Amino acid sequence: MHLNPVFSIPLWSDILYEISDQNLSDAETCLRQLNRQDNLGRNISNRGKSFQSKTKFTEDFVDTPLENILEIILTRLQNCMADLDSPKELEFESLWFNINSESGYNVVHTHSGILSGTFYISIPEPAAPLKITREFDMINHFWGSIESRHRTPITSTVATLVPEPKLLVAFPSFMPHGVEQNMAKEDRISLSFNTRIKRT
Ligand SMILES: [Fe+2]
Repeated sequence: MHLNPVFSIPLWSDILYEISDQNLSDAETCLRQLNRQDNLGRNISNRGKSFQSKTKFTEDFVDTPLENILEIILTRLQNCMADLDSPKELEFESLWFNINSESGYNVVHTHSGILSGTFYISIPEPAAPLKITREFDMINHFWGSIESRHRTPITSTVATLVPEPKLLVAFPSFMPHGVEQNMAKEDRISLSFNTRIKRT
């Protein structure tokens, strides 16, 4: 029998070197300030000592150090659409930031939207990886039953990506993902987003 892999899932990553260290540090200060104003946030995928802000929008970051960063991210996301041979333009649907303190983590979940992703602002060592997984039913009922002995691009159910400051990661919003536990004493800070097709 011929084995034909028929689908693959895109995962984009790029370090945004054009963002200055000062801009990054000002962005962290800005997010910490917002965190002090609302330290309850929301609880969706975050567990343990893990803060997730309420939903923000592009307008919330106008005239802040995040404004420039969001513009750069959106340009990169447009390149992702070109990779997919799509003529559509994206816009941010929602934005939120995450502060995972020591032991904080995020359980595997999916998002709404077209492309989702995260921009990493502060990543202490050891860096807690982003974990991406196959569809839930495939893991539980298919791969869980056959107990493959070797991990290949076909049989693997989990892949990890180690973040660093200024790294941007993007993926289709339907792709399940989570964050491993932060084993560092310092906070792991990131900005996440969902996008939608731009409304004309
Ligand atoms: Fe997420």
